[in-house]
Amino acid sequence: MEKTFSEAMDFRHACKIFDETKKINEQDLNFILEAGRKSPSSFGMEPWKFLVITNEELKAKIRPFCWDQIQITSCSHLIIILAAIEDVKPQIRRAYEKICKKRNASRKT
Ligand SMILES: Cc1cc2nc3c(=O)[nH]c(=O)nc-3n(C[C@H](O)[C@H](O)[C@H](O)COP(=O)(O)O)c2cc1C
Repeated sequence: MEKTFSEAMDFRHACKIFDETKKINEQDLNFILEAGRKSPSSFGMEPWKFLVITNEELKAKIRPFCWDQIQITSCSHLIIILAAIEDVKPQIRRAYEKICKKRNASRKT
């Protein structure tokens, strides 16, 4: 396990140039999305959505908002993660207060 993790860390790198003739297959894409979906979040609220963009016109429209990086249009699938930070703030506050009450501790913020 330790060796596998270490090997994975040595191998991992940020890929900048993609082969535009190839597309990620559905099985691999679902694996990637599942890994994201199962990622931990504060209080387990998972306040996110994953948008998978494959439409080339849409990718071209998005590119200027990402420092015009070529990867935005050359990638097989563009995954945008939307985080509903403001939406979950009240829920997190309520959950935090509930925990403080249960532990008989005072809220600091
Ligand atoms: C917070 C963060 C933002 C990043 N943003 C971009 C980005 O906009 N475009 C890009 O090509 N790479 C981006 N990267 C990848 C880094 O450029 C890359 O991880 C760094 O060059 C180190 O290379 P390595 O990941 O291959 O070790 C980002 C990495 C992090 C951690």
